[in-house]
Amino acid sequence: MSDSDEDDIPQLSAHTFAALQEFYEEQKQHTDPGGDDKYNIGIIEENWQLSQFWYSQETALRLAEEAIAVAGEGGRIACVSAPSIYQKLRELHREDLAVYIFEYDKRFAIYGEEFIFYDYNNSLDLPKKITAHSFDLVIADPPYLSEECLRKTSETVKYLTQGKILLCTGAIMEEAAAKLLGVRMCKFIPKHTRNLANEFRCYVNYDSGLDCEI
Ligand SMILES: C[S@@+](CC[C@H](N)C(=O)[O-])C[C@H]1O[C@@H](n2cnc3c(N)ncnc32)[C@H](O)[C@@H]1O
Repeated sequence: MSDSDEDDIPQLSAHTFAALQEFYEEQKQHTDPGGDDKYNIGIIEENWQLSQFWYSQETALRLAEEAIAVAGEGGRIACVSAPSIYQKLRELHREDLAVYIFEYDKRFAIYGEEFIFYDYNNSLDLPKKITAHSFDLVIADPPYLSEECLRKTSETVKYLTQGKILLCTGAIMEEAAAKLLGVRMCKFIPKHTRNLANEFRCYVNYDSGLDCEI
């Protein structure tokens, strides 16, 4: 090849090359979530058909910290229809905790053994390894604001918990939540990545830090 042939090969500037490399890295993360990235809230996009509305980063962190405080070191936490809390707990690297994600959306099966397929319509149809009253804390955020959905989800929650329950749902469910789970509304107000038409609240059946802040 002569000098003049080499001169004809198009060269990328360092700036363009760096931008291209960044683009390829981003593409790779979207198709092959690995490492810590796979626990990013939003890596699995909201599907409104499944009533999916993810918590804001701040709310997910606050609820994950609450779960850690309640479950204690080496504790067991069940996240029922609340995938963002599972993701945040895993992002925080609390490997001493046993955390399970009970979810209907099979895209969350990327979390392997910790993913438990769950349909609230079959509230006690759970794998054998999930034994009764084996979780220090159960967090649940049922998909629909109906008495039927809360009643069926409550059956699962009561089966899983050793006693402590943290429920996130609409403010309009306050009475039903008290009746079905014996939980009371907290002062803390959970926020979502999008503004929702319905007011959401957290409910607990134990003394909680979530009751001290507005
Ligand atoms: C209102 S969202 C709660 C998500 C929560 N805000 C979060 O950020 O983790 C309801 C959840 O219920 C799940 N879901 C939808 N249909 C379900 C079903 N039939 N049984 C159990 N869960 C279901 C959705 O996939 C979604 O994760």
